Amino acid sequence: MVEITNYHSVYEETWKALFFGRARWDPKKPCTIVEVGSYEGSSARWIVDNLMHAPESRLYCIDAWTGPGMDERYERFRQVIAALPQPERIEVFRDWSQNALRELRNRNVKADVLYIDGGHDAPTVLRDLVIGFEIVKVGGLVICDDYLWNDPKFGGHQVLGRPKIAIDAFTTIYADKIAMVRFLSNYQVYFQKIAD
Ligand SMILES: C[S@@+](CC[C@H](N)C(=O)[O-])C[C@H]1O[C@@H](n2cnc3c(N)ncnc32)[C@H](O)[C@@H]1O
Repeated sequence: MVEITNYHSVYEETWKALFFGRARWDPKKPCTIVEVGSYEGSSARWIVDNLMHAPESRLYCIDAWTGPGMDERYERFRQVIAALPQPERIEVFRDWSQNALRELRNRNVKADVLYIDGGHDAPTVLRDLVIGFEIVKVGGLVICDDYLWNDPKFGGHQVLGRPKIAIDAFTTIYADKIAMVRFLSNYQVYFQKIAD
């Protein structure tokens, strides 16, 4: 098996509580999941292994994989994906998130889950949330990663370089359309779409 950076392992217990506790997720039921930010595939692998046991289920993985070392990481991602059961259920967009999300919206894709872990600067997170929210089904779940992330190496020392202000703005402005899922984690934010 290919060695990858497992960013997802710290969330496994929380996601089990979220999906199998709160959301009463049935992996045998066909579902559509959209992931923004796939990197080497650790979250995609968890999603397929745990949430997608139905042959009709679909995962859309969106990542630009651009910049130094990213061709290599994309290759590792492809190897991880190829080793998963029924990899033809996964469609990969090597593109900027706004392009891929607009493409999914144009195709009228309706997602049960939107997981946002792509660009971490506030304008990108806000745009991913606004466009992504349109493709989430009423009743679907949105997961925002790295709420409190602030790594100065990647611009996190600036308020606008972090996801937090964008997630706060979105959840405030869309308060009538969402129900927060509280107390599962301080580092990720979860909410359910309750209205279009
Ligand atoms: C933290 S990593 C994702 C980790 C992954 N979810 C996991 O658990 O293994 C963030 C990824 O977002 C991608 N990314 C950053 N900005 C992006 C953008 N604007 N559009 C698409 N992908 C982006 C990067 O290429 C990187 O692979």
